[in-house]
Amino acid sequence: MCGIVGYIGQDNAKELLLKGLEKLEYRGYDSAGIAVVNESGTSVSKAKGRISELRKVAEADDQDGTLGIGHTRWATHGVPNYENSHPHQSASKRFTLVHNGVIENYEELKNEYLSDITFISETDTEVIVQLVEHFSNEGLSTEDAFTKVISLLEGSYALGLIDNEDEDKIFVAKNKSPLLIGVGDDFNVIASDAIAMLQVTNQYKEIHDHEIVIVKRDDVVIKTLEGEVQERESYTAQIDAADAEKGVYDHYMLKEIHEQPAVMRRIIQEYQDENGNLKMDSSIIKDVAEADRIYVIAAGTSYHAGLVGKEFIEKWAGVPTEVHVASEFVYNMPLLSEKPLFIFISQSGETADSRAVLVETNKLGHKSLTITNVAGSTLSREADHTLLLHAGPEIAVASTKAYTAQIAVLSILSQIVAKEHKREADVDLLRELAKVTTAIEAIVDDAEVMEQIATDFLETTRNAFFIGRTIDYNVSLEGSLKLKEISYIQAEGFAGGELKHGTIALIEDGTPVIALATQENVNLSIRGNVKEVVARGANPCIISMNGLNKDGDTYVIPQVHELLTPLVSVVTLQLISYYAALHRDLDVDKPRNLAKSVTVE
Ligand code: F6R
Repeated sequence: MCGIVGYIGQDNAKELLLKGLEKLEYRGYDSAGIAVVNESGTSVSKAKGRISELRKVAEADDQDGTLGIGHTRWATHGVPNYENSHPHQSASKRFTLVHNGVIENYEELKNEYLSDITFISETDTEVIVQLVEHFSNEGLSTEDAFTKVISLLEGSYALGLIDNEDEDKIFVAKNKSPLLIGVGDDFNVIASDAIAMLQVTNQYKEIHDHEIVIVKRDDVVIKTLEGEVQERESYTAQIDAADAEKGVYDHYMLKEIHEQPAVMRRIIQEYQDENGNLKMDSSIIKDVAEADRIYVIAAGTSYHAGLVGKEFIEKWAGVPTEVHVASEFVYNMPLLSEKPLFIFISQSGETADSRAVLVETNKLGHKSLTITNVAGSTLSREADHTLLLHAGPEIAVASTKAYTAQIAVLSILSQIVAKEHKREADVDLLRELAKVTTAIEAIVDDAEVMEQIATDFLETTRNAFFIGRTIDYNVSLEGSLKLKEISYIQAEGFAGGELKHGTIALIEDGTPVIALATQENVNLSIRGNVKEVVARGANPCIISMNGLNKDGDTYVIPQVHELLTPLVSVVTLQLISYYAALHRDLDVDKPRNLAKSVTVE
């Protein structure tokens, strides 16, 4: 979703801002812009579309200066066009602002304070910058005007403001939306994701909601709204700049699919003690083991990982578990048990829908655990506990390695809680995860087979169905999401047995039906469902597991523990989706309309 960068230092800001925005491209956006301050004022360049378009515009503009802010916009208020792109300026052009998030009371603020202003854009953001000018015209200093505006805003925001009468400061604040301050020698930066500014620093300071931060070349001053100065240590961002590069791969998605065996090995290593036993912080084990019911809250792919996690938690740890879509749960909370524990699964740790639930459960005083890829992310900071995925940065919008990492971490948590509950272990998990790692390796080595499957089944189709039963059904939901989000093929995942209750009406001659058959107890029934669709003309692609396979199956995955099959079967679906999108000449890493980190509700 929207991204922010800013630089104040000794070097030319323009190139640093453009490079920073390029690093944020993965979050999803539809327009971008930068503003640079120098003695002749603030020069703004904006463009609809990719950063490459902005680069062309910016190169033509005179933008030398050592202070600037930049933004990638994912449209919420108003279509993606020049006027609605950030940065936005106040009427006199003295103040320039970038904003991520959504201001809920912008109409009210506009009516109350800005009725005489002609607005150029349809955005909520323009109201903020006009308000700063309004209070500045009333005689407040820029810092005081900014602070006053912050005290009036309702909603989510990360803000970077510059004043062309003060070349020495960027004014910064946030609420709910992510924003970090990067610190350097004689320069400082702001960024919604450390990845953006790793080019110049790996030292970052967190900002808390409702703080006012004045970023200067040689100082960062953090204050409360009441003006009390806050001391804040910086930390080292644990991201290797090379992890955020594509390397030898054509796309981040392909790279991230290929990284899955390495991620599995890292997880095995991180959650294992020197005696080869599973390990985890004892306070996490205690809180999870004491819960009478677990509520898993997530969105999209992370929700699908949660569905698989439920199987482990119930079957191994014996704790009743519900899995909920965050955006529904927040408006329609079910009856909670007496001692619930909430598990938030989120690759980014920033998903606004999940955070909205965490805010509510924190108010209710319930224990929470975030499973995330991003240490220090909002969901991680605001929950009682965090388990890290150790998957390395996931840049492609379509999540792949985070899904398998989430499932692996959930399997480890479940086994540890099973032990705490003195439930007999029927699985040597570390050994089984090692087998899974080898199986994933075999599948990525077979990438050309997946490409052929994409050609045979998906080359020209407008729709496709994924079916499975029990845990395979959960994976079919993820497979269909992967395919639809990057190839734009209308794809749906169904429980095999549900087809004949309606959906089978959609099957026509040649409709691709991708069926997963990795579970012994439903092997015959899913194959029965395949026969039903074949009788109506479907083109079946059967992905089965060694030991359960039958003649004519399209692809057979290596045998792994039955409950861990999602970790392996999903890799076939990730690769098939990747090639289906590639063959349609689509932008695999940045599918249309989507954002990597969905920071608005
Ligand atoms: C799909 C995808 C999304 C995310 C969802 C939640 O490939 O990536 O469905 O899973 O937006 O994001 P996180 O996990 O960051 O909370």
